[in-house]
Amino acid sequence: MDAIECLGSRRTCRAFKPDMPTDEEISAVLGAALNAPSGMSRFTRHFAVITNADWLARMNARVRTLAGDASVASNLERNGEKGYSCNYHSPVFIVVSADPAYPTSRDDCACALESMFLAATALGLGSCWINQLGGDNCEKLRDLLREAGVPENHRVYGCCALGYPAAPSAPKKPRTEKITYLK
Ligand SMILES: Cc1cc2nc3c(=O)[nH]c(=O)nc-3n(C[C@H](O)[C@H](O)[C@H](O)COP(=O)(O)O)c2cc1C
Repeated sequence: MDAIECLGSRRTCRAFKPDMPTDEEISAVLGAALNAPSGMSRFTRHFAVITNADWLARMNARVRTLAGDASVASNLERNGEKGYSCNYHSPVFIVVSADPAYPTSRDDCACALESMFLAATALGLGSCWINQLGGDNCEKLRDLLREAGVPENHRVYGCCALGYPAAPSAPKKPRTEKITYLK
């Protein structure tokens, strides 16, 4: 897929098939993450790739207890009869973390996440940024993050739900952000 076409067709996916993407597809998505830029070339990011259904179930049970009523209600509405899942039952879940000692850690992780979303688009996979493991929840979920290999000194800045899309994405919201030119 042409890169510009890929940028234009990337959409957030919130319904995944249970089928596991191939190792090659998962590796290609991670390769895109590793190629993303990092402030001052520090490259402190860690990518914890989780396909373990038991871990995903325990993570979702915990995240649900930490979420507000409105967030749980909207998630249940999105997931329908499949039930609560902050990652929309994606078979692959990638936790992106970095050392918070550095001022660009959040930006570094955002670059890697967007690269993963674009690689997923090029491969015909669906992806979604999942925010529930970041912020204050990060320390509250430290035992689960440790189990998944996230370094003890890292903060989670975002996660990627990944898998084959089970349904078309929601209609694209018109982009209204302004662009100005000074020539
Ligand atoms: C920083 C950030 C955090 C996000 N967190 C979530 C999230 O936790 N759950 C979710 O379903 N979507 C999340 N999204 C996806 C946005 O809702 C989505 O990008 C937006 O609706 C625009 O749709 P599009 O990605 O299809 O263009 C997040 C996106 C960004 C950039």
